[in-house]
Order: sequence, then C-alpha cells, then structure tokens
Amino acid sequence: MTSSLLTACGIDFGTSNSTAAIHDGRRARLLPLEDGKATLPSAIFFNLDEDSHSFGRAAMAEYLEGYEGRLMRSMKSLLGSSLMDAGTEIGGRYLSFRELLGRFIGEIKLRAEDATQQTLQQVVLGRPVRFVDDDDAADRQAETTLGDIARQCGFRDISFQYEPLAAAHDYEQDIGREELVLVIDIGGGTSDFSLVRLSPERRGKADRNADLLGHGGVHIGGTDFDRQLSLAALMPELGLGAALKDGKPFPSSVFFQLATWHTIHLAYTRKAWSELQGMARNIADHRRYDRLARVVQQQRAHELALAVEQAKIALSADDRIRIGLDALENGFSLDILRCTLDEAIAQDIARIGATAQATLRQAGVEAGQLDTLFFTGGASAVPALRQSLAALFPQARAVEGDAYGSVGSGLAVTARQRYGN
Ligand SMILES: Nc1ncnc2c1ncn2[C@@H]1O[C@H](COP(=O)(O)OP(=O)(O)OP(=O)(O)O)[C@@H](O)[C@H]1O
Ligand SMILES: [Mg+2]
Repeated sequence: MTSSLLTACGIDFGTSNSTAAIHDGRRARLLPLEDGKATLPSAIFFNLDEDSHSFGRAAMAEYLEGYEGRLMRSMKSLLGSSLMDAGTEIGGRYLSFRELLGRFIGEIKLRAEDATQQTLQQVVLGRPVRFVDDDDAADRQAETTLGDIARQCGFRDISFQYEPLAAAHDYEQDIGREELVLVIDIGGGTSDFSLVRLSPERRGKADRNADLLGHGGVHIGGTDFDRQLSLAALMPELGLGAALKDGKPFPSSVFFQLATWHTIHLAYTRKAWSELQGMARNIADHRRYDRLARVVQQQRAHELALAVEQAKIALSADDRIRIGLDALENGFSLDILRCTLDEAIAQDIARIGATAQATLRQAGVEAGQLDTLFFTGGASAVPALRQSLAALFPQARAVEGDAYGSVGSGLAVTARQRYGN
C-alpha cells in the first residue's frame, strides 16, 4: 500500500463491527479487512462439520448455511462482565473467552498487516467511555483485559483512546472553522459522547486538554434495542408471558438469554436443556413451547436474533415490516410495527438522552452553546433516537459521520500523534 515504514495503527474493536486504520502522514486510511471492505463484523463461527473457524461476514454466512457449529457475536460485551473469566464448550472443547477475543483481535492484526505489508507493533485501541456503568474498578479491569489480549496478539506498544474522541479527530480532519461539537457515537454495545472544541488551527497541536470539555457514556446500544424488540415482539411467540398448568408464569430467564446476543450460548447447555424438558408436563401452551424447544435443541437462536436485528434496521426506514421465521415453525412470519420498537426502546432512549445532557452539564455548557451534533455508529440511525436528541439540542446542526469508519480513522490520527508515523 505504501513504501514507508508504518508500524502504528488504530483498531476499533466494536461490539458489532471492527475496523483498523493507519495514518500515512497525510490522512488516516481505513484498511480493507474482508473482501475489500473496511469493516469486519465482530463474529466468529466455529464450524464443527469441517473442524474450522471463520470470521466476519464469512462467519455469519456459514452459520446461516446451516453448518453444525457455534456462532459468537457481541464478544466485546463480555469485557467487564462477570462472564469474562469463564468460557464456553464448543464441540467438546473448552474455549476461554480471553482466547476467543484473542483470536478475533489477532485476526484483525493479521488482516491489517496483510493490507499494509508491515508488521504492526503499536496500536491505539478504542474504548467506550464506560465499559461498565457505575463500577470504576470493573471498568478499569475491562481495559486491562483488552490490553493484555492485544499484547498476547503481538502488539508491543498499546494505548487507549475514547471512541467518541477518536471520531472527533476524524471529523476535525475536514472542518473549516471552529465548532463546539457533541460527538454522539451510538454503537452496538454502548452510547458514547465527547464534548470538544474543534478547529483547523487546533488540529495538529499536541496538547489538546483545554479543548476536551467532557465525556459521557452508557452501556446501551443497538444490541440492547435488539433485545428489547425481541422481548416485546418475538419471545411471546415462544412462550414469554404464558402461564404454566399450575398457574405460575413460565420462567423468563431462558427468553432473556435467547434475546441477548452474548448470552445465547447459556441456553444451549445440557443443564438448561434438561430443565426445559423437565417442564414439559407442566406446559399449557404446547404450540409455543414446541417452538422454544425447537430453537434451543437446533441451536437456532442466532438466526432469530439476526432476524430481529434486520427488523430493527428496516424499521429505521419503514413503519411496518414482516419477517419470516422458519426457525420457529415452517412458514411462520411476524409483522412488526415501528411503534412497537419505539415503545420497547423508550427507556433506553431516555437514558441515552440523559447521558448526553449530563455530559454537557458536567462541563458547564448550555445546550444553546453547541454548534454541532456529530453522529456516528450504526445505531445512530434509529429515528426515535434522532428525534429525541434533536429535541434536547434544537439549535445544533446535525452532521453525519461515517457510521462505521469515523472511530477507526480517528484512532489512526491518535496513533500517528503518539507513535510518530
Ligand atoms: N439503519 C440502521 N438503523 C438502526 N440500527 C442500525 C442501522 N444500521 C446499523 N444498525 C445497528 O448499529 C449497530 C452497530 O453499529 P456499530 O457498528 O457502530 O457498532 P460497534 O462500533 O460495533 O459497537 P460499539 O461501538 O458499541 O462497541 C448494530 O446494533 C446494528 O444493528
Ligand atoms: Mg463503535
């Protein structure tokens, strides 16, 4: 790609999508990670039929083709969670979650090196403002764990940058005048904010502390919207909310596991399966129970989660959509309205808005002082979220970043500042 020695990169390891970028002295460039595309979906599929594993779009495709195996997505959500020190059994082999994350980040490094033809030694890793809400020790631990994993992957120098601040640096590459900007990065796992003063003159300066007015973050993102939509519209079709013969409600934990990307594997353990079978005699609604049993036994919950995610994305453009769900029953389909999604995620949206307001309040900045809302992250496209943020900051103009690339490009800007290439 380039003949000079470029050994520093930025890596945006995202809950849903990852990118890697380098700075060639003139600008930041995202590197092709899969089939010429800059994003690598953060997914691994362990194919048990062929005793192999694959990454990104290829992983999702193999899973959907019906190979026996296990799909892992939303791995970043394990960082800072109590699951991080555990692992999962795949085809009789135990895989620790550290090793799982290592395989994915190691693959990003390999592909980035393939694209640059250099051995990458320094990395600026993006991090959400909060890996863990309200627990500073667990939050620090999550960063330490991610750093350790990057070291095991072969990076020599590792440092971190807030993801929204990275996106600010990306935006600043192209602005023509001074602006007070609230960067709004709504990703798969977290919503992150940076309040920054940006200008062409400040761009190259080493010390930017005076321009960084505040940061805020909350562990809510697009995968939470998926979960809420699944619980509201889909899981009732598998028995959530149904009563058992003895009048007690069907235990809800399995539905929460199935509706949450990074806990689906918990519903597939032998123990969970025998508990589910043990309930058979107490079931009143066999049609729904059979759907649930089918999804768990055939390990098809990711297929449902993908359909729900597609529904959520389609509802950004349409008021009503229909999804086919053969995993439940052959020929089964479900109509979902945008207002069902809006209602399901209303509390999440309120918390995201409150976090944005708190970011300004802590910096002593009034809403009316903001010039720009800079949007990035795939989930920033949700209309109800956009409307709610626009209402909180009515005077600011909205600017669209590169939904999937701004953070990665900005991390490369920081990598150049810190590591000098
Ligand atoms: N048009 C759309 N409408 C609604 N949601 C969308 C749309 N496009 C993508 N998404 C959602 O955006 C999320 C992925 O965004 P992104 O790739 O920015 O996240 P990420 O960087 O991987 O996550 P994070 O930064 O939180 O770790 C997914 O939940 C995806 O379903
Ligand atoms: Mg992101």
